[in-house]
Amino acid sequence: MARLVVAGGWQRTGKRALGWGLEAILGPETRVSRALAALGGAGSPREPGTAVSRVPNAIEELRTDRLVLRRWRPGDKEAFARLNADLVVMEYFPSALDRAESDAFADRIQAGFVTNGYGLWAVELPGEADFIGYVGLAPANFEAHFTPAVEVGWRLARNYWGRGFATEAARAVVADGFDRVGLEKIVSFTVPANTRSVRVMEGLGMTRDPADDFDHPRLPVGHRLRRHVLYRLKRPTSNAGGSLPGC
Ligand SMILES: CC(C)(COP(=O)(O)OP(=O)(O)OC[C@H]1O[C@@H](n2cnc3c(N)ncnc32)[C@H](O)[C@@H]1OP(=O)(O)O)[C@@H](O)C(=O)NCCC(=O)NCCS
Repeated sequence: MARLVVAGGWQRTGKRALGWGLEAILGPETRVSRALAALGGAGSPREPGTAVSRVPNAIEELRTDRLVLRRWRPGDKEAFARLNADLVVMEYFPSALDRAESDAFADRIQAGFVTNGYGLWAVELPGEADFIGYVGLAPANFEAHFTPAVEVGWRLARNYWGRGFATEAARAVVADGFDRVGLEKIVSFTVPANTRSVRVMEGLGMTRDPADDFDHPRLPVGHRLRRHVLYRLKRPTSNAGGSLPGC
């Protein structure tokens, strides 16, 4: 069961949302994101229920049975850089990140919590490791048939794979996304070969329609990682008690 440590109500914002994943490598400033910024927000959704027009005040952390999902600390950057330099962890990204790129990504994640009221949480394994990677929500604002949308994503250090941490953390993140953030739907996407990530998506109850598969617009035509599968999860229709599938 996920537990929230909450601080506050709602506030409005017109600021541009930050992205993650490919954006960490390709840079946050693209033609699409600049156009969205000019619109003063995430733009007009191509699908209903995908845009967040208000931003919930930040919470300090989410807790699960084994994990603490918390805001980032300066000391996380070293372990994050090691993870981002690991070619196995980064197999399904266009490239590994050097220290400067990794630090800049961590800074953008931190800033994203302020802008959006949600983000990619630093994951702590109490008693074992202060930082094992991130799991969280991020806006997907690139041009695609399902955007703007909010994505659930994860990246853990290899030593911590295969213990169910990504799934456990993502369940808490998804519950928070529906309950506190007020999302109607959450997406996740990856390349078809990333079966570990797909298993996490399926473990969350997310479903894929092959008709939703898409070419990532931030990768050039012919790039080995361009084709992506899309998984979706809808807000539960009956959520009176705040509980969610799998929690
Ligand atoms: C994607 C990623 C986070 C998945 O990590 P993972 O360890 O496979 O996922 P989980 O932590 O949820 O672990 C699930 C596995 O642990 C096993 N497991 C062991 N103990 C478990 C427990 N207590 N609870 C649940 N599962 C457990 C499960 O059987 C499952 O194995 P399976 O996938 O063979 O069925 C990890 O591979 C990663 O960081 N990859 C690199 C970054 C990346 O590609 N990110 C996604 C970009 S889209």
